[in-house]
Amino acid sequence: MIEKGNLISEGKAKSLYETQNQNELLMVYRDDTSAFDGKKKEALKGKGEINNKFNAHIMQYLDKNGIRTHHIENVTDTESLVHRLDMLPVECVVRNIATGSICRRLGVEQGLKFENPLFEFFLKDDDLGDPLINDNHIIAFNWGTEEEIAIMKEKTLIINKLLCKIFSDVGLILVDYKVEFGRKDGQIILGDEFTPDGCRIWDKETGESLDKDRFRKDLGDVVESYQIVAHKLGISI
Ligand SMILES: Nc1ncnc2c1ncn2[C@@H]1O[C@H](COP(=O)(O)OP(=O)(O)O)[C@@H](O)[C@H]1O
Ligand SMILES: [Mg+2]
Repeated sequence: MIEKGNLISEGKAKSLYETQNQNELLMVYRDDTSAFDGKKKEALKGKGEINNKFNAHIMQYLDKNGIRTHHIENVTDTESLVHRLDMLPVECVVRNIATGSICRRLGVEQGLKFENPLFEFFLKDDDLGDPLINDNHIIAFNWGTEEEIAIMKEKTLIINKLLCKIFSDVGLILVDYKVEFGRKDGQIILGDEFTPDGCRIWDKETGESLDKDRFRKDLGDVVESYQIVAHKLGISI
């Protein structure tokens, strides 16, 4: 039986609690949904449960394929047990197709396919609007080491290969996504989550968005779309 101890952090979509084991945390997926650095917010019924199950499926798949993750097991419909990590304050983003912020930032055409997946670092800081940063900023401000930067890039790109395949096999395109890493016992481990809240997924045939863009753009059927993706991937909700 996992004991829910002190709340140690309440983010925009998840809450983290201590457990009786000081090296393990309980991650609670809430229905809260946010966009534009927390400026747009809504609770979407059932999203916490879908994301918890979606994340477990992806993390287990990555673990089996050589990417160590913090995921231990799902405890309830909306809660999972994870290894406590010392998170690096950066987001690792990979883009296979240009859309969203990169089009506004660089004026590139929407839908442009990158020949090689494009890797970007962003600083995790809502107040600053999660600005784009590069390797030099990470070193200069001690957010990570040269070696950690190399490992994060390498792992994020391996994750891209692994996930593009499973999405493609079921008629979906993994357009872009964000992952976060943390340190544990001198290793860099995948933490946080992989869910439709933090990636873009398009239907191969129709080009329809099946991810958080539905919330950002008020397209409706947000949770229903996450459910469609989960169903196609064989995740039972
Ligand atoms: N294994 C872990 N150990 C410690 N902290 C973690 C772990 N996995 C994720 N986190 C952190 O927990 C928080 C998760 O909650 P979330 O709602 O996503 O927050 P945010 O609003 O910062 O994105 C994030 O700040 C994330 O960096
Ligand atoms: Mg988050």
